[in-house]
Amino acid sequence: MRRRTTKAQGIDRVLFSEAELHTMVERLAGEIAETYRDIGEPPVLLGVLNGSVLFISDLMRALPIPCDVDFVAVQSYQGERSTGDARLRLQPKIPLTGRHVLVVEDILDTGVTLRYLCSEFLPQQKPASIRVCTLLDKPSRRRPGVFAADYTGAEVPDVFVVGYGLDLNEEYRDLPYIGVLRAPEHKE
Ligand code: IMP
Ligand code: MG
Repeated sequence: MRRRTTKAQGIDRVLFSEAELHTMVERLAGEIAETYRDIGEPPVLLGVLNGSVLFISDLMRALPIPCDVDFVAVQSYQGERSTGDARLRLQPKIPLTGRHVLVVEDILDTGVTLRYLCSEFLPQQKPASIRVCTLLDKPSRRRPGVFAADYTGAEVPDVFVVGYGLDLNEEYRDLPYIGVLRAPEHKE
């Protein structure tokens, strides 16, 4: 397998710089804090592995209110079924019953992952509330009937983006910014 010899190898252009991501995370943290300050209970930030790791750690740091943190891993299948399908690969450890859960995702694409979490897995845990914060949103790719996120960092066009946790075949998660790959790099 060909690996990068420099971090930025294969990147065509930067879509969101480190500074822009920082501003985005600060803004999201402010919006989230307003909601949960009113509720008066710390939320459980539930990161979707692996893509959300950089985002959730910056978000926790930026959040001016206390929160707990846990993780889930979801495997999604985009097979013949038109709606797509997903299943849980890692359970959260914190009991979510009665808690205010904020799902933290790297990117909302077709929506299969978040629909599974928010309409199937999480309701079974009987949380007090379920909200979604996604760093990026690709609305053009959304399957019909899938909801929007409660908090969105930025909308992106239908291009494959990497960095700041987002990967192509497990590569590029380590970039501190979000970039677009040069055309031949990306075979979805
Ligand atoms: P979904 O299609 O909304 O279920 O998105 C599932 C997952 O696909 C996301 O959590 C990302 O990990 C991944 N994904 C979707 N679009 C991109 C992209 O442009 N770059 C990297 N990963 C992506
Ligand atoms: Mg991914």
